Amino acid sequence: MKLGKLTLSLFVAAIVTTISFAATKTIKDDSIGLRQDTLFSEDKVVSDETKYGTDPAGGSTKIKRAFENAPPMIPHDTEGMLPITIDNNQCTACHDPAVAESMGATPIPKSHFTSFREAVAIAKDGNLERDGKEVANSSDLKPIIKPLDHLSNARFNCSACHAPQSNSVNVPKNNFAPEFRSSDLNDKSNLIDVVTEGVK
Ligand code: HEC
Ligand code: HEC
Repeated sequence: MKLGKLTLSLFVAAIVTTISFAATKTIKDDSIGLRQDTLFSEDKVVSDETKYGTDPAGGSTKIKRAFENAPPMIPHDTEGMLPITIDNNQCTACHDPAVAESMGATPIPKSHFTSFREAVAIAKDGNLERDGKEVANSSDLKPIIKPLDHLSNARFNCSACHAPQSNSVNVPKNNFAPEFRSSDLNDKSNLIDVVTEGVK
């Protein structure tokens, strides 16, 4: 009986200690963010200047892909090329598969000359129309893979997905290590060949 009481009081004491410990456990403000810096002196925080590479196209070094079939980063200077407008897309002047090889540039891949979107029309009432039949919303749309004889409009604005890189000293360490299923995939893509992988 006595032993039982002792065990019980020890048990209660343990719980009380745990609770009070939990209650006093605080997270310091300088360990909340990735920056590991106090968040109360933002005015003194200065990020380093964005400095994109200045090596000209044709004289830059390609950047390894971040992961399999990641959009490659732009390794060269983009001075005078951005923003891309409807009348001026210089990226295609060098990366169009018809000329890319002669320019030493990576050709725009087949995936960019493919439509993954079902052709639909807008019905009079604003709903989507497929094969002349109205569908309630876009979730009824079927994914398709239709080769196009031109660059897909969805790929026209290259800089929506491809970006230059700035070498910053302030960025937190990146512990992500990509795994490529074959070693050549760290500097080329094969998305169009594997895009249906895992899709039933
Ligand atoms: C004057 C020709 C030229 C123009 C214009 C040009 N590029 Fe490039 N691009 C190249 C060349 C050449 C390379 C290969 C690296 C090198 O030699 O500098 C390259 C490399 C790249 C890469 C890396 C490809 C890889 O395999 O890693 C990307 C992404 C890229 N360019 C995107 C663009 C985008 C987006 C634009 C438009 C803003 C653009 N380029 C404009 C010639 C050009
Ligand atoms: C919607 C996002 C998106 C847009 C817009 C886009 N790309 Fe890409 N790009 C990707 C992705 C993702 C990959 C890698 C997978 C693949 O090949 O599709 C890629 C791959 C590439 C590659 C590497 C091809 C290879 O064989 O390794 C080049 C070069 C390229 N894009 C150039 C361009 C150019 C030039 C434009 C504009 C005309 C453009 N991209 C527009 C997402 C995009």
